[in-house]
Amino acid sequence: MTKTSLVESVLKEACALTDASWAARVAYSANGWHLLESHRLSKKRALVLHDFLENKSNSAWLGGALTGGHSRSRACIFAEDSCKMYVYPALGGDEWLFIVSMKESSTKESQRIWRLASMLICNAALDVTNQTSELMRAVSELEETQQELRARIAAQREAESRLVQAAKLAAVGEMAAGVAHELNNPLTSVVGFTELSLDALPSDSQVRADLELVLREAIRARSVVRRLLDFARQREVMRVRADINEIVDDVVTLTKHLLLTSSVELRLQLSPGLPWVLIDRNQIKQVVINLVNNALYAMPQGGVLSIQTDTVVRHGVSYLALAVRDNGIGIQPENLGRIFEPFFTTRGDKGGTGLGLSVTYGIITEHGGVIEVESQFNAGSAFTVLLPLEPLHES
Ligand SMILES: Nc1ncnc2c1ncn2[C@@H]1O[C@H](COP(=O)(O)OP(=O)(O)OP(=O)(O)O)[C@@H](O)[C@H]1O
Ligand SMILES: [Mg+2]
Repeated sequence: MTKTSLVESVLKEACALTDASWAARVAYSANGWHLLESHRLSKKRALVLHDFLENKSNSAWLGGALTGGHSRSRACIFAEDSCKMYVYPALGGDEWLFIVSMKESSTKESQRIWRLASMLICNAALDVTNQTSELMRAVSELEETQQELRARIAAQREAESRLVQAAKLAAVGEMAAGVAHELNNPLTSVVGFTELSLDALPSDSQVRADLELVLREAIRARSVVRRLLDFARQREVMRVRADINEIVDDVVTLTKHLLLTSSVELRLQLSPGLPWVLIDRNQIKQVVINLVNNALYAMPQGGVLSIQTDTVVRHGVSYLALAVRDNGIGIQPENLGRIFEPFFTTRGDKGGTGLGLSVTYGIITEHGGVIEVESQFNAGSAFTVLLPLEPLHES
């Protein structure tokens, strides 16, 4: 039953029980008094009631009943009928009251019946409030579930994309292993014999410059091939408990001269006393080198390179976190999804192979870790490696 039809039934029953000529429920708002529901209020009476409510002294009289919270009565002429008018305010501080018109003075019982009627409506309103708050609770619970679901879908998508990435890596790895293996030996010969030929050449020889170029390019090609081999090689993994800060220190020592010459300021924030993690030291060193190299390439005019280690908890799992940040050129949003792809590079002209990050990705996932990237084009990038602190179960 809606509230209006409930009020109408209550008005009807109460009128019958108390022998009232008519009754109405009127409410007070910023615009003054207005009629809500009524019983036996003819059109003519409704018009008169409207005028009655507009009248200032009547309005004050009704307002007094409302603020006092007590019923009031007075004799009046209503639509040419003399009558006794009773008002019963809502019990519970609501801004409405019943107006009941009686031919005769109402009895105590009648007054009680109207007060009961008021109580009934107020309780029904309370019920509605309760129902509303229950509904709101249900809605907020639903919203929470929806959020949880969204988070799970996002996690699922991420897991899927990791799987796709892993499959790509495996395919590229297989192909690269074959090609690199074939190229490694001839390239080693080219480098070796070019060096021998250069040694044998007089220093003013015409072909020296050409041969030096051959040597440089062959060395470059060999280093690409070596990286491919590193990338693809199914090497025995040597995991030991190691201190990540020590690995970072090693890399910093290796790259110190580069930092000095490229006017890059290094900020190290290595948390002391970090738990040791089960890792392949060489592989993780390679990860740090790759990330530091990328950061340096991203700051050709200099900048700030920060390396931070710490522990973090994600989704209830404890990780060791290694973050490498730069304030360099950043990554264009359209490239962000591709940087871990094998051979994706924007530095092809400057000797980039596009393998650094895919190798890094492979190493980190093999360690059961994750790598996160945040980047803003023209502002800088942050790569965070998370390595699980619990020991990995060998399968
Ligand atoms: N710190 C960084 N700032 C800006 N761009 C980056 C950064 N790190 C990676 N990138 C982008 O990701 C691409 C792929 O990186 P990745 O390390 O795999 O290859 P590369 O550095 O181009 O070549 P390689 O590492 O094999 O020499 C880069 O070419 C560059 O566009
Ligand atoms: Mg790189």
